[in-house]
Amino acid sequence: MSTTILGIVGSPRKNSNTEILVKEALGGARNIPGVSVETKLLLLRKKNIQLCKGCNDICYFGDKPCPIKDDMGKILDELLRVDGYILGTPTYFGGMSGLMRTFMDRTVSIFGKLKYKVAGIISVGGGEFDGQELAAQSIRVFCLNHSMIQNCWHVSATAAKPGEVIRQVAKLAEARKLGQNIVRLVEKIKK
Ligand SMILES: Cc1cc2nc3c(=O)[nH]c(=O)nc-3n(C[C@H](O)[C@H](O)[C@H](O)COP(=O)(O)O)c2cc1C
Repeated sequence: MSTTILGIVGSPRKNSNTEILVKEALGGARNIPGVSVETKLLLLRKKNIQLCKGCNDICYFGDKPCPIKDDMGKILDELLRVDGYILGTPTYFGGMSGLMRTFMDRTVSIFGKLKYKVAGIISVGGGEFDGQELAAQSIRVFCLNHSMIQNCWHVSATAAKPGEVIRQVAKLAEARKLGQNIVRLVEKIKK
């Protein structure tokens, strides 16, 4: 059975640096000799994802589905189906984007069901040392909360204008390596 990796992009803009790096990581994931890998891309900006209403007495304590009717239902099914994720966010005021945060909060309704999924993290900021680490670390805490397995390092890039990161050859290679590491971790867990 092939390994499936889902790339999740938390940038609201087109030609996003985060999207470029997540796609690169997925390309790396597909490029491991002898390993069958399927990749999928989820652009959060194209989805209708409403804010978590905090009624976790229904979903978390009550074990009932989230009552909000938007695109998140299908996304949650996909999160459960795949083996691993590449989670990419732009850095906004020293943290992840609101889009990414909104998506992450809504996973509370499947809390406990993402255990041992494998995650790789990517963050992009416009300034040098201007919060990319914090953005990545907050995603790391999200993964820890869900008891996911993580790659020990993340990809953190500095690129301000749309698409700028495409010229950073070393960063693209780092992203591809991240994608490959995620597949290798999944393969280990499956054994
Ligand atoms: C609301 C907002 C807040 C931002 N805050 C930061 C920041 O704290 N640190 C930083 O390095 N860049 C910051 N930036 C710049 C973006 O991180 C940068 O443009 C990055 O390339 C966005 O990634 P994307 O191309 O994937 O959307 C901010 C941009 C916006 C729109």
